[in-house]
This record gives sequence, structure tokens and C-alpha cells, in this order.
Amino acid sequence: MASIEEKERLQKFMAGAGVASRRHSEEMIAGGRVRVNGQTVREPGFKVGGADRVEVDGLAVARRREFDYLMLHKPVGVISSARDDRGRRTVLQLLGREFGGCRLYPVGRLDFDTSGLILLTNDGAMTYKLTHPRFGVEKTYLVWTPGRVAAGQLRRLADGVRLEDGMTAPARARLVSQTEDVSLLEITIREGRNRQVRRMLEAVGLETRRLKRIAFGPLTLERGLAQGGYRLLRGGEITALRRVTEGRAR
Ligand code: URA
Repeated sequence: MASIEEKERLQKFMAGAGVASRRHSEEMIAGGRVRVNGQTVREPGFKVGGADRVEVDGLAVARRREFDYLMLHKPVGVISSARDDRGRRTVLQLLGREFGGCRLYPVGRLDFDTSGLILLTNDGAMTYKLTHPRFGVEKTYLVWTPGRVAAGQLRRLADGVRLEDGMTAPARARLVSQTEDVSLLEITIREGRNRQVRRMLEAVGLETRRLKRIAFGPLTLERGLAQGGYRLLRGGEITALRRVTEGRAR
């Protein structure tokens, strides 16, 4: 389908890109400081689109990104939906005021009692692809469980276990470490059913003492990102997320 490009007034484009307020941008335009595709433009209503190169005082102005993408380290005790009827703290309430008008939403869910990596974006198409089981995006979790884990239990987790909503798809499960008291497992799944990892462990006779997501698709929870902390994704990370969903529908 052909797309009709939306053009916008030059001063609005400049304000959106953070050059100056609209009013000040108009003054800059009138003062002959702004060029579009190499030509000085003095008309404030001049319309620019995606293909136009805008320069102010000879420096190129970067177009504002269409969408925002953040990684957040969710602490236990915070819910990952946008709102909560019971008044519990949400991941959106962890964000600073700079994201107030951005209409960000969490990409998928983590339980109230799960910590770790959650993505937030206002890119609905990307959210759909990252969360729909058709695209099979991998999510990796660390699970702390009391006592020792048998090889057969790991194998069953990897092969698939029967839950009340059906068999789980093949997964990866490995033992990271264990003592008499506690074992640490790493498990990677491609589905995202409600409380799936906890229910999988329960199905093989294991208790989940603590659950933390450490990777989502190609992204890993950044070391040093404190609980409750967040940061914008870098360009390469956004590209990697796009790649993981391209041509992957099953
Ligand atoms: N599996 C769970 O059981 N809980 C989560 O929060 C995520 C995956």
C-alpha cells in the first residue's frame, strides 16, 4: 500500500527536534538561518517531510524519533500493567516526568513478584510482534528453587510439560549452580502464558522462590541498571528488536 507522507511546518519540525520553541524557530527562519535541501527558506509555513534535509546555521537537524523504547529493571512489588484497580504501584509510575506525555506501555507482563527486564514503548506494532506467540520471541529467566534439581526435572522442563492450558513448547533449561539449600536455573521460553515459568516448575515438582527475567529477545538486562532504573534503548538495540520479529511469524 502506498503511504502518504505527512509533511509538517518547518517551525513545528524544528521545535519537535528540540532546536528551539516554535516562536524562536520562526525568528530563526525569518532571519535566514535555516536551509532546506540546501536552499535558504524564510517562509515559516514551509512544509517539510521525511526526505528533506533541514539545516540550522549550517548544521543538520536530526528528525525526532517517531517512537520511544525503554528498558526498565522492574523490582518485585510493582505491577507491569499501565493501571491497577487496587492502587498498586505500576512500572509507568517509576518513570520520570520527561516521559509523562509519551503514552508508553509495557511490552508483555511480569508478575507482581517477578523482577527483571521489561520493555516499554509507544510502538504498538512492535509490541504486538514482540508479544504474540506467532513470533516466538525468546525470554530468559533465572529461577531460584529450594533444594536440588534432578536431571530428569530439567529434561521435562526443556521437552515440555502439561499445564492446564496445554503442553508447553520446547524450552531451554540449564542448571547454573546448586547447593543443598538452593538451586539456580536458567530457562528460556518462546511463549508468554500467564505465570508460565512458575507453573512449569510446579508441574515438575519444583517451587519458585525467586524469578527474574534477564533477557528479552536480543536484549539483556544491563548490568548496573538498578532496580527501578531505566534507560532509552540505543539505535542498534531497536534495530536488533525489529530484526528478531522480521519474517519470523510462524
Ligand atoms: N513466568 C512467570 O511465571 N512469571 C513471570 O512474571 C514471567 C514468566
